[in-house]
Amino acid sequence: MTEIRTPRLLLRRWREDDLAPMAEINADPQVMRFIGDGTPRDLEQTAESIQRWEDEWDDEGFGLFAVELLGSGELAGFTGLAVPYFLPEVLPAVEIGWRLGRQFWGQGYASEAAQAALDFAVTDRGLDRVISIAQIGNHASENVMRKLGLTPERETTHPLSGRPLRVHAIDLTEYRA
Ligand SMILES: CC(C)(COP(=O)(O)OP(=O)(O)OC[C@H]1O[C@@H](n2cnc3c(N)ncnc32)[C@H](O)[C@@H]1OP(=O)(O)O)[C@@H](O)C(=O)NCCC(=O)NCCS
Repeated sequence: MTEIRTPRLLLRRWREDDLAPMAEINADPQVMRFIGDGTPRDLEQTAESIQRWEDEWDDEGFGLFAVELLGSGELAGFTGLAVPYFLPEVLPAVEIGWRLGRQFWGQGYASEAAQAALDFAVTDRGLDRVISIAQIGNHASENVMRKLGLTPERETTHPLSGRPLRVHAIDLTEYRA
């Protein structure tokens, strides 16, 4: 099942008309502050990302969901599962992640969407473990991790940007019990 409804959100596969609003989110330096080396991304890079996320759905049976507000139909951003190829030392692993446009912060949307993605990891994909990686200083993201029940496991460095990272994890065999 690749569509999930929560009380306020629809998590779904990507559509062509998501490109413009997702590119707007990726172009915001505050949104991108703790992603990679912090550089915002343009329309072309966003199109490539969406294509990669859709390919991951086809190849792995999981991926990043587009997160839509049920009330207005607006694209708020994404949450979901991805293989963190950028950090080979943690592989094999599946990462849970999230990114919302700034106007959608502070309303509990990220946690609501991510909880649904974690439930999907357990009940639909049968995963035993999920990790999440945040740059140190990204308190909003680590707050979501904590609320989902992930705990800090180790610190390391982003291989490309050299920025410090903290890896969090959750044992989903216990989560299921
Ligand atoms: C990381 C990110 C998704 C977190 O978003 P967020 O809106 O702060 O996260 P939440 O959905 O948990 O909402 C946070 C706050 O909304 C408030 N809130 C308002 N209404 C709420 C409701 N109905 N239910 C729950 N919380 C609500 C709460 O105060 C909550 O804060 P608390 O957990 O301290 O109580 C967002 O900061 C972001 O997109 N950042 C840029 C991209 C990024 O860094 N991604 C992660 C890379 S590792």
